[in-house]
Amino acid sequence: MDKIIVHGGHSLAGTVNISGSKNSALPILAATLLTNDSCVIKRVPDLSDVHYMLQILAHLGAEVERASGVVTVKAEQVNSVAPYEIVRKMRASVCVLGPLLGREKEATVSLPGGCVIGDRPIDLHLRGFEALGAAVRVHGGNVKVFAPSLHGAPISLRGKFGTTVLGTDNVMMAAVLADGTTIIEDAACEPEVVDLANFLNKMGAKIEGAGSSRIVIEGVKELHGAEHEVIPDRIEAGTFLIAGAIAGKEVTINRVRSDHLTAVTDALRACGYGVGGTNGTLTIHANGIPEPLDLKTRPYPGFPTDMQAQMCALLSTAAGESSVTENIFPQRFVHVSELKRMGAKIELDGATAKIRGVDNLSGAPVMASDLRASAALILAGLLADGMTEINRVYHIDRGYEMIDQKLGELGAHIERVNGIVRGVSLRSIHKQIERPILRSYLCPGNAPSKLNYPEPEKNALML
Ligand code: EPZ
Repeated sequence: MDKIIVHGGHSLAGTVNISGSKNSALPILAATLLTNDSCVIKRVPDLSDVHYMLQILAHLGAEVERASGVVTVKAEQVNSVAPYEIVRKMRASVCVLGPLLGREKEATVSLPGGCVIGDRPIDLHLRGFEALGAAVRVHGGNVKVFAPSLHGAPISLRGKFGTTVLGTDNVMMAAVLADGTTIIEDAACEPEVVDLANFLNKMGAKIEGAGSSRIVIEGVKELHGAEHEVIPDRIEAGTFLIAGAIAGKEVTINRVRSDHLTAVTDALRACGYGVGGTNGTLTIHANGIPEPLDLKTRPYPGFPTDMQAQMCALLSTAAGESSVTENIFPQRFVHVSELKRMGAKIELDGATAKIRGVDNLSGAPVMASDLRASAALILAGLLADGMTEINRVYHIDRGYEMIDQKLGELGAHIERVNGIVRGVSLRSIHKQIERPILRSYLCPGNAPSKLNYPEPEKNALML
C-alpha cells in the first residue's frame, strides 16, 4: 500500500492550480441519472471517490465515458438498485437515492455504514423523501424508497447538528420531477449545493434560492441533457493556503473562487498571515509563527469542518494556546493522536481540542485515518524536523488530485512510495497519471480501469 514520505523544513513557493470540487462533482454526476439524454461534466477531478461514483452509474446501467477531466454520462435506461459491494466504498453513494426516486419512483441503496469522523445517519434525507410522498423501508442493510408518484411539499432539513449537505442535494434531486412545488427550509447553503442547483436548472429544472436556507423547487415533467463545469475545490484550496502558511514564502493558488473561502482566509489573517488576491487567485505570504486562535466549525458560510484537521496542524506550533471546537462532527479528532506522536500538545475536551503551541514538531511514522486527517499529517510533515511517513494514503487519493506532485512542484521534499517497489521515483509514478486516459465504464463487471484505485480495506470505516 502506498505511503507518502515528507522531509520537513523545506520552504514552499510558487503557484498551484486547484482542481474541480469533489463534493460538487459527486452529486452532479449522480444527477445525470435524472435524464436519458447525454450530460457532459467538465473539470471532474481524478479521485478514487469519483471513480467509485462512475462505477455506480455504470452499475445502474448508464454509459459513462471519461477523458482527462471530462465525463460524459448517458443514462438511457437505469435499474434502481445500488448494491453494498460498490456503495460500501463511499458514503456519498447515498446521493443516487434522490435522482433514482425522482426518475424511477423507486430506489434501493445499501445503507452507509460507520465512519471514523463520527455518526452519519441519513434520517433527514429519508424525512425529505417521505414528505414528497415516498414510503421508506430499511431492511437487510438496504434502504428502499418508493412511491407511485411524488408531490411537492414543505420540508425542514434541520437536524441535531444543523442542516445536511447531501440531504439537501438528495431532496432537491427527488423534488425536481415531483408534481407541484417543494419548499426546503433549513437547507444547506454550501457552494456545492448551489453548483448542483445550477446544473439541474441547465437540465430544465426550476429551482430558486439555492445558497440560502430556503430553496423553492417547482416540479417539471422531464429533464434534458446539459453541459456543466464543476466549481473549484475550496477545501483543496484551503489546504494549499495552509501549506503556504506552514512552510511557504509566497504561495499562489490559481483557478479558485476566493468568495468560497472567506471563513478560511479570515482565520489565516487572524493568525497573522497576509492573504490577498482577486477572484481566480489567492496568494498567502508567510509570516513566521502563527498567532493562536479560537475556532469553531459551522455550516457554510462558517468555518468548514473539512478544514478543521488542517488548522489543528497549523496551530500546533502557534505562539500560545488555541482552541478548535468541532460543531458538525463532534468526534472528528482522529488526527489528534497522530499529531501528538509528532510532538504536538493537544488535549481533547469533549468536542474541543485545546492546542498549546510548541516550538517544533518532529517527523514520525503516522497513520492516516480519513481524508482530511491525512492532509493534516502531510502539512505537519512539511513543518516537522526530519522525515514523516504517512501510511494508508489511499485516504488522501479520495479527495486530493496528485497532492504530492503539486506540493513537490512548490518545492516540498515529498515522495510517494508504493508499498511494493521501494524507491520508485516520483517522476515515474506521475508519468502514469499524466497520460490522458480515455476510460469507459460499461455495465457491471466490465469496468476497465487503467488507474487501479486500491480497494479500501474490508473493515475500513468509509468516509
Ligand atoms: C458533506 O457530507 C461532505 N461530503 C462532507 O465532506 C462534509 O464534511 C459535510 O458535508 C459537512 O460539511 C460530501 O459532500 C460528499 P451532512 P454530508 O449531512 O452531506 C448530521 C470530506 O471530507 N446528519 O451535512 O454527509 C451528520 O451526522 C467530507 O470531503 C444527521 O443527523 O454531511 C452531521 O453531524 C467529509 N442526519 C451533520 O448532520 C442526516 O440525515 C452534517 O452532515 C444527515 C446528517
